[in-house]
Amino acid sequence: MANLQVTLAGLHLDNPVMLASGILDSTPGILRRMSKMKVGALITKSISIKPRPGYPGPTAVETTPGTWINAMGLPNPGLNEFVDEFSLTNGSVTIIPNLVADTPDEFAKLADAVAVAGAKIAEINLSCPHPKASYKGRLAAQDPRAAAEVVEAASTKLPIIAKLTPNVTDIGEIAVACARAGASAISAINTLAAIDIDPELERPILGNGYGGLSGAGIRPIGLRKVLDIVQALTAANLDTPVIGMGGICDADDVVRYILCGAHLVQVGTTLAGNPEQLSNITEGLADWMDRKGYQNLEDFRGRVLEWF
Ligand code: SIN
Repeated sequence: MANLQVTLAGLHLDNPVMLASGILDSTPGILRRMSKMKVGALITKSISIKPRPGYPGPTAVETTPGTWINAMGLPNPGLNEFVDEFSLTNGSVTIIPNLVADTPDEFAKLADAVAVAGAKIAEINLSCPHPKASYKGRLAAQDPRAAAEVVEAASTKLPIIAKLTPNVTDIGEIAVACARAGASAISAINTLAAIDIDPELERPILGNGYGGLSGAGIRPIGLRKVLDIVQALTAANLDTPVIGMGGICDADDVVRYILCGAHLVQVGTTLAGNPEQLSNITEGLADWMDRKGYQNLEDFRGRVLEWF
């Protein structure tokens, strides 16, 4: 019988399949519903210090079947309301707040506040591809020094997962900088910077113009980036766990990421309209391991690295 249990920064999770930030996670009620699934942990929509209203619509459009472009604008009620409304301590499944900010000090303030509210670990979003400031400048996750500064500032009160962007030349270098700065895990990938155009209206398809691509079509890019991260961490003698995501639609996709060296995975876009798929994916992973005769995730993690 397959054992799916996994440890993340000292936390014991029933299985390695997490709900990704940004989908079915914006209210306590939706999170409660998702906690009934076979899921290792739930990650919240990004929380900022002040409330953010989000961008004007359309905010999410399916560009090709299964692949979506979105620019939500990080809508959230702000730190105070989040801490009041979301219980981080007494659910049956670990809830991991995802934090977004513009400076290391703001990240530190958010991390400290969610730690006081009972969070055991937080994910920091260094990588949303379309904040206004990034149209000309760079995201924290596009600069190893900036990413490291944020990780260092945020990780004083609780373990931190650094969520990276694929929109860089060398994602391994950024992952190593984050790990050396104290990140307890690296998650990747956030969405690919993208635009799409409505030929009839002769304008961008999204209200915000700029957006990020997610869903089935980006899976091979996610796998490549996770492979790059695992190789770079290994070369730097770092054993920081990697959480793979990008285009996971079924159990085979989870297997693909673990074969590339991921310890855990996050599932997002495919759950829009089909939340139960989360449990199907976890059950499918156990079935695959049983069929292959694997008892633990370590039995096949990183198996394809020798091919590269
Ligand atoms: C959004 O809220 O616009 C997307 C967030 C992200 O990609 O990190």
